[in-house]
Amino acid sequence: MKTVVMDSYGDPEVLRVADLPEPQAGAGQVRVRIKAAGLNPIDAKIRRGEFDAVYDISFPQQLGNEFAGVVDQVGDGVDGFSAGDEVIGFVDMAAYAEQVVVPAENLTMKPAALPWETAAVVGAVGQAAFNALARLELKAGETVLIHGASGGVGSLAVQFARARGVNVIGTAGEGNHDYLRSLGATPVAYGEGLEQRVRELAPQGVDASLDLTGSGEAISVSVAVTGDRSRIVTLASPPLAQQYGITMMFGTRSAATVAQVAQAVARGEATLPIARRFALAAMAEAHQQMEAGGHQGKLVLTLD
Ligand SMILES: NC(=O)c1ccc[n+]([C@@H]2O[C@H](COP(=O)([O-])OP(=O)(O)OC[C@H]3O[C@@H](n4cnc5c(N)ncnc54)[C@H](OP(=O)(O)O)[C@@H]3O)[C@@H](O)[C@H]2O)c1
Repeated sequence: MKTVVMDSYGDPEVLRVADLPEPQAGAGQVRVRIKAAGLNPIDAKIRRGEFDAVYDISFPQQLGNEFAGVVDQVGDGVDGFSAGDEVIGFVDMAAYAEQVVVPAENLTMKPAALPWETAAVVGAVGQAAFNALARLELKAGETVLIHGASGGVGSLAVQFARARGVNVIGTAGEGNHDYLRSLGATPVAYGEGLEQRVRELAPQGVDASLDLTGSGEAISVSVAVTGDRSRIVTLASPPLAQQYGITMMFGTRSAATVAQVAQAVARGEATLPIARRFALAAMAEAHQQMEAGGHQGKLVLTLD
């Protein structure tokens, strides 16, 4: 089967298509023929070598942590999935590929109404948003400041928070302000003067804050306007979390949460646009786009 591997850490050009033997589903495992896979910032961080101490990396190393596709082989002892089922799943570093084998508990059924591409991209960002908002214990009528609100996690966090009756102030580049308004957030530009701009929008301060940028500006402004470090979460900087005494959340993944997010998107309660589609042979270009930014919505790998 065709997949994408890197032979060393480095720039996007280290990504190349390779042929590997077809993986086989062992006991408790399921093999999926992938129709689409999501691209996420962590893929680029792993490619650059930033997760060397976290993951067991061995070259040539595959990449990609979420996918949607069709079950084509089921191992012994698996209940609940059979060949032909349309599923959404997660995996560590293996989804940029024609096929993947995962434990059955990494899969959930794809809602029929969800297109393949959308199904492939909602899981990782959706559960990050869902878990972070749960950790912040937001209540209707409260105000949350979300840094990086126009990105994948941010877009869903804004919509989930608004659905709970929470007011959202979201930082984004100017080009994404109309987009944030369309999601129900009040946009604010990041950069110098951010604290004052937030105070003008929320003179009483904000109740909680979610950082998706890992920038010192975002976290120091959050501390200033929130005042309660126990209600500030970052998903993007362990060192700054430690420095400022706030919470760094790491990804906890479960098929049950992916299912909740996918169903919410399928029902139209939240949307996540696809910004660009890439073929397997274009993963280097896809990573360049991911690192350059400036797009609105998710980047997705599509397979025939
Ligand atoms: N710990 C976890 O469990 C977990 C899970 C998922 C993601 N993450 C992390 O969370 C972060 C966000 O992920 P994502 O998938 O949402 O990324 P994304 O889709 O690339 O979005 C990031 C957004 O940040 C905005 N941005 C860039 N610099 C900014 C700044 N200085 N201030 C405010 N906004 C800024 C950009 O928006 P504009 O174009 O509008 O500037 C961009 O859309 C990444 O670091 C990712 O690795 C962590």
